[in-house]
Amino acid sequence: MIKYLGSKRTMLPLLDALFRASNSRTGLDLFTGTTRVGQLMKQAGMFTTVVDTATYSEVFGKTYISLDAGEANAVELRDAIEELSNLGGIEGYVTQKFCLEARYFQPKNGMRIDAIRSAIESDYRGTWLYEPLLSSLISAADKVDSTTGVQMAYLKTWSRRSNADLTLKVPELLAGEGLTLRSDATAALSQLHPVDLAYLDPPYNQHRYFGNYHVWESLVRWDHPDTYGVANKRLDVRATENKSVFNSKLTGPTALSELVANLNAETLMLSYNDEAWITKAELMDICRQKGEVALIEVDSKRYIGSQIGIYNKAGELVGSPGKKRNTEYLLIAGDSMRLKKMLDATS
Ligand SMILES: C[S@@+](CC[C@H](N)C(=O)[O-])C[C@H]1O[C@@H](n2cnc3c(N)ncnc32)[C@H](O)[C@@H]1O
Repeated sequence: MIKYLGSKRTMLPLLDALFRASNSRTGLDLFTGTTRVGQLMKQAGMFTTVVDTATYSEVFGKTYISLDAGEANAVELRDAIEELSNLGGIEGYVTQKFCLEARYFQPKNGMRIDAIRSAIESDYRGTWLYEPLLSSLISAADKVDSTTGVQMAYLKTWSRRSNADLTLKVPELLAGEGLTLRSDATAALSQLHPVDLAYLDPPYNQHRYFGNYHVWESLVRWDHPDTYGVANKRLDVRATENKSVFNSKLTGPTALSELVANLNAETLMLSYNDEAWITKAELMDICRQKGEVALIEVDSKRYIGSQIGIYNKAGELVGSPGKKRNTEYLLIAGDSMRLKKMLDATS
């Protein structure tokens, strides 16, 4: 899985214990990002639905959530990965924009990304392999990038991992059923069936995922957009339709409260942290719309970018490192007996 701002990687054991104790048969991961949390739901036996606005997230969803490993042809997937791995590099959009003009990948890897991405488009579009192959490519590219984990800037000197050769791996598909929707969370509600368990992990601040992960958006869309600035972001990073209500201090809190009110879920789980606009007390009020509320606080290491420091567009250090830790909030709301069972499973 890729490096991702706000990823719940370190909280997975806790979430896993809670999910299993909830005895849910259907689960919804409404701001799924990498789909890490949705994958846990699926592994806990739930029919899982994942939703996100990002195109790369849809690719991960269609790979790890919608596909049933029991029905997929593992040999076909392995053979396709092998064939793509053997392609020689070509100089294309990725090499030009993200290796020569900006420096997210070393040219030797950028050229292979170009060759592999072009072959996925010409040979696999419209087949079941399309999304698993794209997932494999994004994950491989992430392993050899030269950033601090977000694509607002790249490092001034090449990161150590960028020296390594791009290596495609076969994605580990999961057994079970699921559904993937690329949609705004609020808009998705009208299309969703009621669920036993819903997990919400919205953005906590003004930093937009569309701009933070524009390289993955362009790699998936393969639309070769014009770019701007030193970071070579897609021009449509500025477009209104790519802005999220959850990224605004003005609209985010109300949007979240309305989302929770309209969500048809027996049990709600909401992740947030202590650096966001909504206070702990307000979060408790929002969740109370769904029943009794429990709060778990987790001391957490902040994402690597904030620890390394603040960089300007040219990748030069201009600010000192921020604080190293924050507190993650996990709120659970619903029936009191179920809450007790879930909390007991964490002790
Ligand atoms: C904190 S991250 C979720 C991280 C995820 N739990 C993980 O572990 O990978 C927030 C996600 O919300 C998505 N997002 C932002 N605005 C959205 C909206 N209006 N509707 C749906 N998803 C949105 C972003 O693309 C991002 O993937």
